[in-house]
Amino acid sequence: MGQGKPMGRGTTLLPLLITWCFMVASVQSTFNITTILDGYTNFSVLNRLLSSSGIATEINDRQSLTLLAVSDDTLNAFINSNQNADAVKVADLLRFHVLLQFFSMDQLKALPTTYFSSYTTLLQTTGKAIYNGEESKLNIYNTLQNGILIGPALPGAASNATVVANITSSGVDISIMQISNILIPVGFSINGGDLMQVLMGFYHYNTFIRLLNATGVTDALAAMQGQGLTVFAPTDAAFSALSKPVESLPEDEQKLLMEYHVIKSYLSLDSFKHLVDSPLQTLAATLATKGYKLSVTGLLLQTGIVNVTIGDVLEDANPVAMYSVDSVLLPADLFSAADVPPSETAPAPLPKTNSKSNGTTPQAPSSTGSPVPVKNGAPAASTGTSGSALVLLLSLVFLIM
Ligand SMILES: *[C@@H]1O[C@H](CO)[C@@H](O)[C@H](O)[C@H]1NC(C)=O
Ligand SMILES: *[C@@H]1O[C@H](CO)[C@@H](O)[C@H](O)[C@H]1NC(C)=O
Ligand SMILES: *[C@@H]1O[C@H](CO)[C@@H](O)[C@H](O)[C@H]1NC(C)=O
Ligand SMILES: *[C@@H]1O[C@H](CO)[C@@H](O)[C@H](O)[C@H]1NC(C)=O
Ligand SMILES: *[C@@H]1O[C@H](CO)[C@@H](O)[C@H](O)[C@H]1NC(C)=O
Ligand SMILES: *[C@@H]1O[C@H](CO)[C@@H](O)[C@H](O)[C@H]1NC(C)=O
Ligand SMILES: *[C@@H]1O[C@H](CO)[C@@H](O)[C@H](O)[C@H]1NC(C)=O
Repeated sequence: MGQGKPMGRGTTLLPLLITWCFMVASVQSTFNITTILDGYTNFSVLNRLLSSSGIATEINDRQSLTLLAVSDDTLNAFINSNQNADAVKVADLLRFHVLLQFFSMDQLKALPTTYFSSYTTLLQTTGKAIYNGEESKLNIYNTLQNGILIGPALPGAASNATVVANITSSGVDISIMQISNILIPVGFSINGGDLMQVLMGFYHYNTFIRLLNATGVTDALAAMQGQGLTVFAPTDAAFSALSKPVESLPEDEQKLLMEYHVIKSYLSLDSFKHLVDSPLQTLAATLATKGYKLSVTGLLLQTGIVNVTIGDVLEDANPVAMYSVDSVLLPADLFSAADVPPSETAPAPLPKTNSKSNGTTPQAPSSTGSPVPVKNGAPAASTGTSGSALVLLLSLVFLIM
C-alpha cells in the first residue's frame, strides 16, 4: 500500500505536468519576433540587433507589446554616427523601443490629444531606466495636426520621432509600428563618458566630477568603458571632510588619487562578497608607480590608512560598475594617518540611499534592496502567468489526490 501510493501520485502528476508544459509553451511562443521581422526587408538591421542582444527572447517571452521599429536606413545612420557605442547601451536603447502594451494604429489615434501619456517600456524591466535622476518612460503625444509624436518631454516640445506606418499586428499580442527616428531617453548617453552623466544625475559627486575632469582621468574612463571598469565615487561630503583640499596636492598626485578610485576590471557587487584580502589593481598602479594597492574583503576597502565600505550601486552595466563611497580612498603612497579626517576613526553609518537628497523623483534602482539590477530577467507578465498556471496545476493535483 505504502509503496503503491507514490507511484500512483507520479503517474497522476506526469500527464498534468506535460499539459502544464504545453500551456506554458503555448503562452510563450504565440509569436517569434525574428520570424515576423524576417518578412520585412527594411528592418533587417533591427532584427539582427534584437537577436544578437538577446532582446528577441525578452520580446518573445511577452504576451502583449508594441515594437517601435526603425528602418535599416535610419538605424545604419545612427550606428555610423556612434561608432564607439557600447553594446550594453545599444541594447538598453533598443529596449526603450518596446512598449509593454499593445497599440493598434486606431488605439494610438484614440489617445487624448490634450496631453502626452507616459508608457512603460522593456527598459524599465531592467531597473536601469533612470538617467539624470529621471525615470525615462516613453511619452506618446497624439497631436491632431502633426500626427503621433513619440518622446516629447513636453507637449509641443520637439519630439524624437513620429509614427510613420502600421507595419503589422497580430491579434492583441504584438504590434509593429514604424517610427521615423531612434528614441533616446532624456539624459541617456550611448558613448563612453556616460559614467560622468550617471554621476551628474546624483547631486553630490560634484567634487569628484570636477577632479576627474581636471586631471584628465575622464578620458581614461571613456577609453576603458568597453573593456571593464569599476569606479568608487566619493561624495562631496567625503572630499570636504579631508583636512586639506585635494587641489593643494601637486597635479600629478591629484591624478594618481583619482586613478586610485578606478579598478581595471568589472566587479559586480556580488563578486565582492567572495573577496578576502584581495589586492585590486587600481589605475594608479603602473610599472612606474608600483604601489597603489587597494585590498578588499567583502565590501570593505582597505587602503592601509583608511577602511571604507562600499555604498550604493550607482551604475551596474557589465562591463562597467560604479559604487558610492562616503570617504575618499587615501592611498598610503600619498597620505599618512595624520591626513585621515577625525570622523573616519568612527565611521558613520552608511547612507541608506543615494538618490537625490531632495528626493522628489523615484529612487535609483540601486537603493531598492536588490542592488544589482536584474538583466535579462524573466519578464513580469509571463512569470506571473506561468506562476499562476503552476498554482492552478498544484491545486488541481491536490484536489485529485
Ligand atoms: C524564432 O525564429 C528564429 C528564426 O526564425 C529561431 O532561430 C528562433 O529559435 C525562434 N525562437 C523561438 C523562441 O522559437
Ligand atoms: C524601405 O525603405 C525605403 C527607404 O526608406 C523606402 O523607399 C521603401 O518604400 C521601403 N520599403 C518598404 C517595403 O517599406
Ligand atoms: C528627444 O526629445 C527630448 C524632448 O524634446 C529631448 O530632450 C532629447 O534631447 C531628444 N533626443 C534626441 C536624440 O534628439
Ligand atoms: C495594421 O496592419 C495590420 C497588418 O497589415 C492590419 O491587419 C491592421 O488592420 C492594420 N491596422 C490599422 C489600424 O491600420
Ligand atoms: C571639463 O573640463 C572642460 C575643460 O577642460 C570644461 O569645458 C568642461 O565643462 C568640464 N566638464 C565638467 C563636467 O566639469
Ligand atoms: C581596517 O580594518 C582591519 C580589519 O578589520 C583592521 O585590522 C585595521 O586596523 C583597520 N584599519 C583602520 C585604519 O581602521
Ligand atoms: C534638488 O537639489 C538640487 C541641488 O541640490 C537642485 O538643483 C534642484 O533644483 C532640486 N530639485 C528640487 C525638485 O528641489
